[in-house]
Formats: sequence, structure tokens, C-alpha cells
Amino acid sequence: MKPKIWLSAPHMSGNELPFINEAFNSNWVAPLGPNVNGFENDLQSYLMEDRYVAALASGTSALHLSLILLGVDYGDEVICQSKTFSASANPIIYQGATPVFVDSEKDTWNLCPIQLEIAIKDRIAKGRKPKAIIAVHLYGMPYNVDEITKIALKYNIPIVEDSAESLGSQYNGRNCGTFGDFSILSFNGNKIITTSGGGALVTKSLKLKEKAVFLATQARDNAPHYLHSEIGYNYRMSNIVAGIGRGQMTILDSHVAKRRSNYQLYSNSLKHIDKITFLNEPEGYFSNRWLSCILLDSENTREGLRLALEKENIESRPLWKPMHQQPIFKKHPSYLNGVSDALFNKGLCLPSGSNLTNNELERVISTIKAYFVTC
Ligand SMILES: Cc1ncc(COP(=O)(O)O)c(C=O)c1O
Repeated sequence: MKPKIWLSAPHMSGNELPFINEAFNSNWVAPLGPNVNGFENDLQSYLMEDRYVAALASGTSALHLSLILLGVDYGDEVICQSKTFSASANPIIYQGATPVFVDSEKDTWNLCPIQLEIAIKDRIAKGRKPKAIIAVHLYGMPYNVDEITKIALKYNIPIVEDSAESLGSQYNGRNCGTFGDFSILSFNGNKIITTSGGGALVTKSLKLKEKAVFLATQARDNAPHYLHSEIGYNYRMSNIVAGIGRGQMTILDSHVAKRRSNYQLYSNSLKHIDKITFLNEPEGYFSNRWLSCILLDSENTREGLRLALEKENIESRPLWKPMHQQPIFKKHPSYLNGVSDALFNKGLCLPSGSNLTNNELERVISTIKAYFVTC
């Protein structure tokens, strides 16, 4: 059996260890401590906007806190991009609210402005104005920030920007993670940088960050004894985990460059195969190419190729199955145009890690080429 090639493996640089050692040497192994503040400052500087960052246990917890801070409650509705990973939608259910799924556009594979406005108008007509819009930069490709923001402002609905997959991506020169009323990041094991598991909430004011941190640390009121007037959560990032994050921040740009070069290599090497197409960056878009994705001419070709790669011990995965097709979410309202269904049927994510070697990339490319010679 040939060695396994993973879709998106963690990639440590070695720069993480001094931060972790420092935490051990100073006995800051308990939650919180200097690495947490340091990691938050590193992220704030990287994002280059007037933003505040709270380091948390996961991207999912950041999404959950966003909805709480926006006052999403039992019986409310929240619009969510249908083509996403389930973690974008789950926190809506945690709050006892209802997700309303909206389809994608072909140019970015993200939230379709036309469907979004149709959905908002229809929900308002039904007396159910959405409380928030969760917009996702999937696979690192920014959503159409100008159009989506314009619509959100027109109807006065806040945006939660799910930037879990897009740290290092930009839209018209501005960093993803700075466009929402709240934005979230993820550092789980397969992301462009990882802290083994972790996430962050990005807010527009210090007051909101402080409120998020209060909720994330069990909502302890100011008193010598434990006193609680709100429900709290155990959602804060630990000082050890934040140390990994500090080390990872030193190589974030090189991870972006490597993932972009993986994508370029795939597209240069496979462009002559007419059954394969790629998603180009529209003007003004800069994708971190977290995952290199291709579209095939049919579901049959996509599945055949996936199995051919699997036979060579190469991991690939169909593009995310839209939320409106998921058994758990099927019963909720959705506004569809067929784009995310077609992407799911025909799309495949290829190995994309920043630690892939030239030999490994060559193995993937030659397996794909061989498949198209025989199929
Ligand atoms: C689009 C998207 N949103 C949210 C999340 C949740 O992040 P986490 O795994 O850190 O909770 C992920 C990743 O898992 C994701 O890909």
C-alpha cells in the first residue's frame, strides 16, 4: 500500500514549541495566560482593521456566541448559506431558532445575492423577518461582499461572516474576517493554520469582545463568590493551545502561498482535460485556496475519479453536501436555484495541504491523468 496522501493535514512549523515551552516553564498551563492575549493581538494585527478578537475553543463556539450577542432566540429565523459545513448552521438550532437556507451563485459558490433578496422579502412578507444572515467564504473563496452587504444593509439585518476556511483570503484588498457585524475563524486540524482545535470571534467593539469573553468563561458576575445572572459557556481557548496559534501565525502567509501554488499546479497540469473545470478568482477576489476544488462533467465521473484516487491511497472528498439536502435540516425553509445541488454532484476537493511534497502532488496529478485515459 502506498503512503496515504491526506486532504488537508495539520502542518507545524517548529515555531510553536517555544511558546508552548514558555507556558510550561511559567506554569501557565491553566486556561488563559499570556499566549491567549498574544494570539489575539497577532490576529488583530493580521486582520489590519479596527477589530477585536476573542480566542475561543472552536469556530462553532464563535458562531454560537455571535448569535447570542445578536439576540437570536427561540422561534427566530436566521438565514444561512446552504452550501457550507454543518457547523455554520448548527448554532442556529442551539438557540432554538430556525435556519432558512439560501443557495449559491456560480461565480463564487457562495451566497447568491438574488436568492438572498428573494428569501428576505418572502420571510418579511410572512411576518418572519430574519434576525441574521450567516454568509460563508467556502474553501477560501470570498463571498460577494459588496452585494451581500448592500442587501443586508437595505433590510437592516446583521451579517455573521463565517470565515472558518478563509483566513488569509481578501476581497478588494481587505482581509476576510473583517466584513461581518461578527466574524468567526477556525483553527481546527484541517484549517490553513491550526491550534489542534480552536477558533476566534472577531467583533467591531471592545465592549462586544468583553461580553463574548464573559459568556465564554461561564458568565461569572463580578463578586467574590460565584454569582451568575446569565447562562454561560466554557468556550475560551487555553494558554497552551494559544501558544500553538502564536507559532502558526508566523507561517500563515507561507501556508497561503503554498496552498495557492498547489491550486496553480493542479490547474496548469489538468487544464487540457476538458471534463475538468476550476473556479477562477473573479476580479478583486484573492482566495487562500484552502482547498483545491474541481468540477467534473457528471456525478459518475466525479465518483469514478474519487474511487480511483482512493485506490491509490489518496484522500479526496465531494464538495460539501448542501444543508437543505441534509436529513437533519431538510424540513426547514430553503430558497434554491440548483447551483449548490449541481456543485455537490460534480465537485471534488483534492489534496491541498501546505505540507504536500512535489512527489505527492505528482502522484495525485498522474492518478487523475491516468483515470481520464482509461475512463
Ligand atoms: C465553514 C465552516 N464553518 C464553521 C466551522 C467550524 O469550525 P470548528 O471546527 O473550529 O468548530 C468549520 C470547520 O470545521 C467550517 O468549515
